[in-house]
Amino acid sequence: NQAKNIVFSDGNPRSKIMLIGEAPGASEDQEGLPFVGRAGRLLTEVIFSLGLNRDEVFIANILKCRPPDNRDPKPGEVDQCFSYLEKQIDLVKPKIIIAVGRIAAHSLLGSDLPMGKLRGKIHGFGSNEVPTLVIYHPAYLLRSPSQKHKVWEDLQLANDFLE
Ligand code: URA
Repeated sequence: NQAKNIVFSDGNPRSKIMLIGEAPGASEDQEGLPFVGRAGRLLTEVIFSLGLNRDEVFIANILKCRPPDNRDPKPGEVDQCFSYLEKQIDLVKPKIIIAVGRIAAHSLLGSDLPMGKLRGKIHGFGSNEVPTLVIYHPAYLLRSPSQKHKVWEDLQLANDFLE
């Protein structure tokens, strides 16, 4: 059950918007691209609701390799990959980061607050305080579609901020 590909990023490195997920799953490992499986297709719809296509945002993950059996990333794995992510953020210089799901939110914000407490406001990432919004993961929305409106609401915050 070894990862086959390094999944680095997709989309436009000049975008104002950078979405950061957790880790590649099976489909992502197959294709070498982030968010291309079932959850990824829903994320593409989430991006549409920002008035953008998938190729107009930059997409990356905390982990660059698929963890065996899709288990949660271990802290050591997050540490190993984090310098690559920081470099990606430095190069893209997004106006806003969208942390997709709990693992991304916790890793970026160094917080362990529940998602209900982290969503709905703009945080600052790192010493440059890059504005960072936290949204529910599309895999969670597939299980709990009644929560979708909260993501749509949160994206309004991103839109208002970018305007
Ligand atoms: N879930 C993630 O967090 N990232 C992906 O790339 C795919 C699914």
